Amino acid sequence: MGTAHDDQTDAVAENGGGQPVHQFDKTYWESHWGAAELSERRSLPIHPYIPSETAHLPAGTALDAGCGTGTEALWLAEQGWHVTGADISSAALATAAGRAASAGLDDRIEWIEADLARWEPDREWDLVVSSYAHADIGQLAFYQRIASWVAPGGTLLIIGHLHDQQAQHRHHAPTSGPPEEATAALAGITSLFTGQAWRIDAAYENTRTVHTRGEGMELRDVIVRAHRLT
Ligand SMILES: C[S@@+](CC[C@H](N)C(=O)[O-])C[C@H]1O[C@@H](n2cnc3c(N)ncnc32)[C@H](O)[C@@H]1O
Repeated sequence: MGTAHDDQTDAVAENGGGQPVHQFDKTYWESHWGAAELSERRSLPIHPYIPSETAHLPAGTALDAGCGTGTEALWLAEQGWHVTGADISSAALATAAGRAASAGLDDRIEWIEADLARWEPDREWDLVVSSYAHADIGQLAFYQRIASWVAPGGTLLIIGHLHDQQAQHRHHAPTSGPPEEATAALAGITSLFTGQAWRIDAAYENTRTVHTRGEGMELRDVIVRAHRLT
């Protein structure tokens, strides 16, 4: 779930300023989804924005871009959506598929192992959601890419780590939040959807606490729901 401190393990290089730079490639994510992370994520509830931002939508086809172990994909399938869960990590997908089978939902969900930064799907979806997915092309480029897979009349729902201006100025003091390159600012995301083709229906920041590994951890979130007009 992109729990902040999870994104701070291995595969870290340094940029010119000595700041850690995360290589969000397949190697990084396969190592991220180690046994501990796989079991821990299964125990966490669904992100509250998925129900609150999709409950009014008629169920149709949905893509969870960077689905991880499938918590959000399974919930959407339970609501009647025909879901595609796509992820770069085979370890995460194997866990997700097992959960779907145990829940009797495997006829409603297909799992696709793909690098979404380079994948060229031959279709569009009524709903595309992405929660805390960080690809190696940067957040805004990733959001622009997945937006192109929304069918006309469809909905895009982005849930991400909020870009923390303060953190950027403390580059010598490691922050407790996600790495900067895994974050985005609200204005940066909404600026992608200002054209004729989109209407922004929800755009806000939210801070919440999730309880993981027996401790409360603050998440600073950015949420954008956009409707594709044409
Ligand atoms: C921090 S996890 C979040 C997983 C899930 N959405 C959640 O909220 O629990 C980010 C997910 O994005 C996936 N991911 C990152 N880059 C990707 C890419 N280029 N293509 C497909 N999946 C990617 C990772 O494998 C990982 O499962």
